[in-house]
Amino acid sequence: MASLSVIGAGYVGLTTAACMADLGHKVVCSDIDRDKISLLNHGQISIVEEGLAELVAKGRESGNLSFVVGAESEVDRAEIVFLCVPTPQRIDGSADMSYIVAAVSSIAPLLKPGCIVVNKSTVPVGSTTVVEATLSRGDILVVSNPEFLREGSAIYDFMHPDRIVIGSDDQGAAIRVASLYSKINAPLVTTDPSSAETIKYASNAFLATKLSFVNAIANLCEAVGADIRDVILGMGYDRRIGFEFLKPGPGWGGSCFPKDTQALVKIAEEGGYDFKLLKGVLSANNEHRDFVAKAICDMARVSSPGPAKVAVLGLTFKANTDDLRESPSIEIALKLAKENKKVVAYDPTITPKILGRLNQVVDQDMNGPAGSIQPELVRLIEAGVELSLDPYAVCDRAHVVAILTEWDEFRWYDYDKIGKSMASRAIFDGRNLLESANLKRLGFNYRGIGR
Ligand code: NAD
Ligand code: UGA
Repeated sequence: MASLSVIGAGYVGLTTAACMADLGHKVVCSDIDRDKISLLNHGQISIVEEGLAELVAKGRESGNLSFVVGAESEVDRAEIVFLCVPTPQRIDGSADMSYIVAAVSSIAPLLKPGCIVVNKSTVPVGSTTVVEATLSRGDILVVSNPEFLREGSAIYDFMHPDRIVIGSDDQGAAIRVASLYSKINAPLVTTDPSSAETIKYASNAFLATKLSFVNAIANLCEAVGADIRDVILGMGYDRRIGFEFLKPGPGWGGSCFPKDTQALVKIAEEGGYDFKLLKGVLSANNEHRDFVAKAICDMARVSSPGPAKVAVLGLTFKANTDDLRESPSIEIALKLAKENKKVVAYDPTITPKILGRLNQVVDQDMNGPAGSIQPELVRLIEAGVELSLDPYAVCDRAHVVAILTEWDEFRWYDYDKIGKSMASRAIFDGRNLLESANLKRLGFNYRGIGR
């Protein structure tokens, strides 16, 4: 069993640390965020991720998992170091490597000879060389091992991956990294670092393209009077297409697809290739959000020719996570507010504590640091969007209810009760979550996506 250091305790770092500890390795996980580490050392985690708190607790109890502040701490003991720090989007669309470079610079003099540094963050093609140059140590090898987990099912995805990709020019280093996963039953793709880095971006870009395609087919279905649900059924049975990633929605978002597709366009540009197809996918996704916002406004206009209230159900970029980064729901709520709609929103992950802290932040200084509050919530408040902890109160006197995230609880609400409190019975179901026939029977003007 190996001695590992995981740098970054976010979605990928914390999952990697907890799972590697569960696989029997000795893991020290570090972060520069003192509050995050303090919480972890008190047995709590700061993100919503199924099973993660329990796995972290199990790791700490077994003695296999510990948390420290700062990448430098205890890194000198590690045989293998995983880099799991952010690679956010820069203003020109490219990936920001500064967190990687900062982390690597701080650990470079401390690493023991023969140690391997693994890039698990999503990094542009050629980044293995950047890390090697930053390390400037001939006795340390750098390996690419991209991560394919999804938020909301991070542990399952880590433990049951469709494949494990390892990119290295050194066979021995590749074998050492691969052996960390020896208890996991998955195909192993070993390749050179550039190909491994390309596999990660190409996979995310392909999935984003698939989603934009299905969203476009949903729009087409509306135009020609077809039903997207049946179209998906008929397409998905073709094994070359499959059912995965065929659900239309209000557009794709999250902390990765938007930044990674932009970064791939930039990577291609730098390599002299104009990736027109992917540029088209990105603009199709933006247009789709406009399309959804307009559809909700149209419904509101039918319900009320004058001022209208829209109740937004769901703010996270998808269900089972509290992540609001690049969430289509947030963008659509902001567009509705810009169209002078009164917008009140509910999301199951917004707690009284978050709301209290948000009000404090906003009262103190609209431009001040938001601390643990996700900046998307501050943007909503600044735009005049109200947040509520009660979904039924959100719908009260509303002219349209807009479901924008596929939280399961939305299926089970008492829509007759909701209808009675609304100014007008109208539902925009941006995730095709509800049975239209039931809603129509209750007297709702119902509109889904592509049906
Ligand atoms: P995150 O923002 O949730 O977590 C990153 C953590 O790194 C933060 O807690 C931050 O404080 C910490 N950090 C920054 N600099 C540090 C340093 N010098 N030393 C120690 N800690 C430091 O990010 P994430 O979602 O885990 O993503 C990390 C990388 O993994 C990104 O490149 C992302 O594209 C990629 N990725 C993310 C997912 C996902 O689902 N979130 C999936 C696959 C790959
Ligand atoms: C995505 C990829 O699925 C992971 O493989 C990858 O590791 C990760 O990005 C990353 O690189 O960070 P994630 O962003 O967690 O994972 O979420 P997804 O489940 O892929 O959803 C992305 C977006 O597509 C969401 O807005 C979601 O609502 C939307 N989506 C997804 C649909 O609209 N329909 C679908 O059928 C599936």
